[in-house]
Amino acid sequence: MSRLTDRNILLGVTGGIAAYKSADLVRRLQDAGANVRVAMTQGATKFVTPLTFQAVSGNPVHTDLLDPAAEAGMGHIELARWADLILVAPATANFIAALSHGLAGDLLTTVCLATKASIAVAPAMNQAMWSNAATQENMSTLTKRSVFQFGPGEGSQACGDIGAGRMLEPLELVTLCEQTLSVQTGSLSGALTGKHVVITAGPTREAMDPVRYISNNSSGKMGFALASAAQLAGAKVTLIAGPVQLETPKDCKRVDVYSADEMHKASITIATNADVFIATAAVADYRPLKSADQKIKKSTDELTLTLTKNPDIVAAVAQLKNKPFMVGFAAETQDLITYAKDKLKKKKLDMIVANDVSRKDIGFNSDKNAVTMISADSEITLEVDSKINIAIEIIHTIGNRLKK
Ligand code: PMT
Repeated sequence: MSRLTDRNILLGVTGGIAAYKSADLVRRLQDAGANVRVAMTQGATKFVTPLTFQAVSGNPVHTDLLDPAAEAGMGHIELARWADLILVAPATANFIAALSHGLAGDLLTTVCLATKASIAVAPAMNQAMWSNAATQENMSTLTKRSVFQFGPGEGSQACGDIGAGRMLEPLELVTLCEQTLSVQTGSLSGALTGKHVVITAGPTREAMDPVRYISNNSSGKMGFALASAAQLAGAKVTLIAGPVQLETPKDCKRVDVYSADEMHKASITIATNADVFIATAAVADYRPLKSADQKIKKSTDELTLTLTKNPDIVAAVAQLKNKPFMVGFAAETQDLITYAKDKLKKKKLDMIVANDVSRKDIGFNSDKNAVTMISADSEITLEVDSKINIAIEIIHTIGNRLKK
């Protein structure tokens, strides 16, 4: 049985040339067992007619928010409730912008706002539009809100350009829908029900004086993605966050801290009754021995700062009498696996997630990551993917380990 058997997928089609591939996508999703309904924007109807999608899906096609006849059948709220997954393919730059700003000016955006189902977008546009800072920021906002990003692929485009912006092929999208629905409703759903998961995230800041500090480039994205995934898996989540500019994931408790010392104190207190502790934070290993009471004056050509070691938070939690299931992260720039295995042992962890922080496209402050999950008896590598997808896989693996 396919993982899409009897799953309800609302396919949103927006106005791009890749819309012609979406008719085939309907068929491929149906071949995999899904029930498919189609909602089109007005722009999409200029590329492919609703009749085409009606013929291939076998269902009426939804195009208008204010059509009394359509609302009398399956209205926008019913559609939002019906879907297990809303896949918008192709998703234009305009649609991504509208969704990221919470606009509800047409049927598709309204349904997306009204749904509790997962939403995935398959971007398709000219490569310059895709790489434009506005589109990237809008996409990043959506990723933070747990919207899945499928693609885009790279290659030659309808406009003659070459680059990133092609909609993924229908079969690739079907596979991604299968993965998304299977982790949510299969292994992930309920994987951590009744468990208390504590996650540290972001950087710490170590004060030199009242206005200066030592810190690093951690954005908190990886830790916040893990919080969302753990919450999806049914856990009660407490997020101990260093100074980051991120929205707190839905239904997670957030404790804000500044320095390693504050993170250490909060972690020891909160982890005492936790089932799982995940240390994603990039904790400063050292802090100035003394933070000056007043702003340090620029006088000499050289300034010597004496640093002292910070407490190792994850290692301290691993010493607790009733220690939770312990997951650390290893941020390395060389010999990734060797150093990670070393930390797994030294810090007495159950699992360590190794990531290469020498790469610009993943790790620190990126929306993507690629990791290897290492425990005493296994090593699982996850290739480059969005942080939310990586987080889902990590939580899925932790859930399996707890069952054992
Ligand atoms: O925040 P993002 O921008 O999304 O980036 C994510 C990330 C790269 C920060 C994340 O994926 C990551 O690798 N986090 C761990 C960063 C780190 O400090 O690694 P480390 O190898 O130095 O430390 C090993 C482990 O010990 C980590 O779990 C760390 O949280 C923990 N540690 C380290 C020092 C310390 N004093 N106390 C700790 O608990």
